[in-house]
Amino acid sequence: MSAAGVAGGPPVALVAGASSGIGAAVARRLAARGSAVALVGRREAELKEVAESIREAGGTALPFALDLAEPGAPADAVAATAAALGPVGLLVCSAGAIRLAAVHETEERHWERQVRVNLTVPFLLARAVLPGMRERGHGWVVNIGSGVGSEVVPGSGGYGVSKHAVHRLTELIHEENRDFGVRAVTVAPGWVSTRLAARPSDLGVPEEEVLDAEDIADTVAWLLDRPARMSVGPLVRVEPSASRAAAGDAMTRHLNRSRARGAGPAAEENR
Ligand SMILES: NC(=O)c1ccc[n+]([C@@H]2O[C@H](COP(=O)([O-])OP(=O)(O)OC[C@H]3O[C@@H](n4cnc5c(N)ncnc54)[C@H](OP(=O)(O)O)[C@@H]3O)[C@@H](O)[C@H]2O)c1
Repeated sequence: MSAAGVAGGPPVALVAGASSGIGAAVARRLAARGSAVALVGRREAELKEVAESIREAGGTALPFALDLAEPGAPADAVAATAAALGPVGLLVCSAGAIRLAAVHETEERHWERQVRVNLTVPFLLARAVLPGMRERGHGWVVNIGSGVGSEVVPGSGGYGVSKHAVHRLTELIHEENRDFGVRAVTVAPGWVSTRLAARPSDLGVPEEEVLDAEDIADTVAWLLDRPARMSVGPLVRVEPSASRAAAGDAMTRHLNRSRARGAGPAAEENR
């Protein structure tokens, strides 16, 4: 076991969806704060790059290339992390899949994929880490939700529904574990400039008006720094200040743009 994870020290962290975007930024931040970090995602080369950048900065990180949507994979990721680094004391679930479409245009397989990655995977990861956290009397579960999980945005389909549900899942985890030293919070961002979201320039929005992944890493770090007596949330929304960078509106415009190009309603990459 590394120095991280010893009693009172920085917790061993598992970051699901650490190969890019918000998850990669959060993983780097946690490592800089002294956590040994398990990096989970499907793209091995990207995970290795994130791990290398953490090691170069003096931190500890191990990549675990896994498709978390596969049966058994979330529990395997938790077990592999415990074996290599120590029991998971901080779970961050940033893995996400999106496929925008109106309800009547949503294909069943796209619905199921989004529910699996955005809701069932966080549930299975939490189920695997919570017993140990409760036993040790300390732990954190941080789920990355979405502003569109709290708003009714036409076309957000299985994405909006699964994010709404993961907000509720986190609330349940919070209520059920608050007397066991375990804190749970959803950080629900608006538009963040990553590969998953529309490019600001495509929608006429200046890049600097949209959030970046570091803003979300800052928020997670701030939450983790609260004293044990204090819990914030369990839903924390982080939005761009400018109304033209509001995520719901951008999503609708993005979807309409795809339709106008004749690409059909489900023209998004299914990530
Ligand atoms: N960008 C935004 O505007 C925005 C706004 C609100 C919420 N969010 C949420 O933020 C989270 C991170 O997204 P992002 O914007 O940072 O985009 P991103 O860079 O595409 O990150 C998504 C991550 O999810 C991982 N992932 C997807 N399916 C997976 C699977 N089956 N197994 C394991 N890992 C999987 C991806 O890794 P691999 O491809 O390597 O598997 C990637 O690391 C998502 O939950 C997203 O819904 C984003």
